[in-house]
Amino acid sequence: MLNKKWLTMMLLVVLSLVLTACGTGDKETSGADAEGKFAKLLVGTEATFAPFESMNDKGEIVGIDVDIMNAIGEEMGSEIEFRNVGWEPVFQQLKNGELDLGASGITITDERKQTFDFTEPYYEATLMIVVKEDSPITTLDELKDEKISVQINTTGHEAAKKLQGMTSSKTLAYENQPIAFQEVINGATAAAIGDNAVVLEYLKNNPESGLKAIESDQFEKEYYGFMVKKGNTELLNHLNEGLQKIKENGKLEEITGQKID
Ligand code: ARG
Repeated sequence: MLNKKWLTMMLLVVLSLVLTACGTGDKETSGADAEGKFAKLLVGTEATFAPFESMNDKGEIVGIDVDIMNAIGEEMGSEIEFRNVGWEPVFQQLKNGELDLGASGITITDERKQTFDFTEPYYEATLMIVVKEDSPITTLDELKDEKISVQINTTGHEAAKKLQGMTSSKTLAYENQPIAFQEVINGATAAAIGDNAVVLEYLKNNPESGLKAIESDQFEKEYYGFMVKKGNTELLNHLNEGLQKIKENGKLEEITGQKID
């Protein structure tokens, strides 16, 4: 039989384990040192999102977001370490303090701004529709009663929900964007919605996919920013300063092929 003393001891053991776990989670990220310099920044991403972040043959995370963050790190004297944690974990781990920032083609939205802070924008994007080459669909409205695949909790997901209703079973949300495209190829969905540069990169890299992209002026302009935990003003200023520098010296435009103020 369990006696009281034994139970109390077990509780204490569990409690101390939990506390230790929380503690180490925090220590990983750098914070500002005495001079306010961030020696090392842990960056969370979801690396199936070429050209912004993907895994190369050597298992390294590469892409526009990596190049931009490295350029900022160089300007600001911060070592940059990317971690491919997955899309939703980027948000969760930032909240928990396990990451310093998220760099993952993340669109600055009012909803996200309630929980996170964003740098100044570094890229302008918009959504696009992907259908089979022989599909008769030409507009977003024609998708109202069709199955649409998206990456979960992205702006593409929001757009599908706006069209089909918040809880429609026609909107199918997946872990990452390539699966959403694959579902169109498989015929499981009539269309996918995704970010323009990522759609075009996918079509370029998969010429046999049998897919085509459709523009729609119903999609608004979106702006990508780097995301930090809400209230982390010191890091935000650090990142914005670096971003401003690479905007001014032309490095950002060189990386993205796009001019942005
Ligand atoms: N820009 C879109 C959003 O913020 C999609 C970003 C998805 N990023 C990724 N690495 N999978 O919702």
